[in-house]
Amino acid sequence: MSNLSHVNSEFGNPNLDILLSSEEIARRVREIGEQITLDYQGKRPNLICVLKGAATFLSDLMRTIDLSISVDYIAVSSYGKGTSTTGEVKILKDLDGPLEGRDIILVEDILDTGLTLSYLLNTFRTRGANSIRIATLLNKPERRRVDVEADYIGFDVPDLFVVGYGLDYDERYRNLPFIGILKTTT
Ligand code: IMP
Ligand code: MG
Repeated sequence: MSNLSHVNSEFGNPNLDILLSSEEIARRVREIGEQITLDYQGKRPNLICVLKGAATFLSDLMRTIDLSISVDYIAVSSYGKGTSTTGEVKILKDLDGPLEGRDIILVEDILDTGLTLSYLLNTFRTRGANSIRIATLLNKPERRRVDVEADYIGFDVPDLFVVGYGLDYDERYRNLPFIGILKTTT
């Protein structure tokens, strides 16, 4: 690829500190995929991606799972940009398929307050899933407001705003191949 560092570089954006390199992420994603492969022997898990942030993680993760799987996608509204929240989550795009009898792996980019995943867990339980586990690339334990635990965690991260590898700030930075800490949001 030609060297584009002189033109409006996002990957070399000076406002970002690298927290996790693409190599570290790839290594950890592979480990999670291998663990899922072992844990779901004889089963056909349905991986459910929470759009949009988890799309990158799902895309890499599913290629490291050596099983017959299916994937589905759900989009939920974030509960607003403010920090105070009612925990109200709305489904913007629902799943295509039924969950009846299925073994579900909910795939998330980051487990923060836990409000999104606790809502989804409760919703999916009412749809007759056989089992539900959570795979999250990132976990911010300090921020938890409701009791949700992930079964597969890529990395615990500190209470800082992170972007890249699917995670955005105001829809930007999803395309970064690494995970960075945004130094200022102005
Ligand atoms: P929760 O419901 O508070 O656990 O929020 C999860 C969602 O908040 C994630 O799916 C992200 O979209 C978003 N989020 C939380 N922390 C960050 C962050 O540091 N960077 C980017 N998005 C974040
Ligand atoms: Mg998200």
